[in-house]
Amino acid sequence: MDDLLSYTLLTSGKHPFEPTSTDIGRLVRASVAAWYPAFEEKEIQLDVDLPTEETFYWEADPKWMTRVLDNLFQNILRHAAEGKYANIVVDVEQELIIVADRGPGMDNSPYEHGAGIGLSTLNYMLKKMKLKADFTSNENGTRVAIGRALPKVNPEVNTMITEM
Ligand SMILES: Nc1ncnc2c1ncn2[C@@H]1O[C@H](COP(=O)(O)OP(=O)(O)OP(=O)(O)O)[C@@H](O)[C@H]1O
Ligand SMILES: [Mg+2]
Repeated sequence: MDDLLSYTLLTSGKHPFEPTSTDIGRLVRASVAAWYPAFEEKEIQLDVDLPTEETFYWEADPKWMTRVLDNLFQNILRHAAEGKYANIVVDVEQELIIVADRGPGMDNSPYEHGAGIGLSTLNYMLKKMKLKADFTSNENGTRVAIGRALPKVNPEVNTMITEM
C-alpha cells in the first residue's frame, strides 16, 4: 500500500513534494478557519489553542501539511462527530500539532470504514517530511500528536566514529 501511494503521488505530478520553511502556527490557523463551518454545521465544539505571537517552522510542503490536517479533520467529522468536541493545539514549546476528539475511538468507530487511504497517505506524507503522527485512541476519544521524527541512529556511523 505504501509503495502504491508513494508511486501514485510521485508520478502523477499532481502533488509534487516541494519542501520549504513553513510557518506551522499560520498554516494550522488557516486550515482551522477553512474547516470551521463544517465543524459548526455538525455542532462540534471547537476548542482551539493557537499561538498568536509565536510560532515555529518545519521544513515541510505546506500543501502536503494542509492535506494531512484535512485528513484528520475529515476523520473527526466522519468518525467522531458524536463526541461533539474537537481540540486543536499548536504547542510552540514542544513543536507539536495536537488534534483530539471525544469520539468513540478508532477501534470502536461504528461508521462505515472507508478504504483507509486517508491515514496511509497521512503517514506517508509525514514520513517524507521527516515528521510523524502518534495516535492515542480509546473509547473516550482519539488524540493525534504530530511532531518531528527522531532521526534513526545509524549503527554504521557509530562504528565509524569509534574507529576514527
Ligand atoms: N478520529 C477518529 N475517531 C474514530 N475513528 C477514527 C478516527 N480517525 C480514523 N478512525 C478510524 O480509522 C479508520 C481509518 O481511517 P482513514 O482516514 O485511513 O480511512 P477512512 O476515513 O475510513 O477513509 P478515507 O480513505 O476516505 O480517509 C477509519 O475508517 C475509522 O474507523
Ligand atoms: Mg479518513
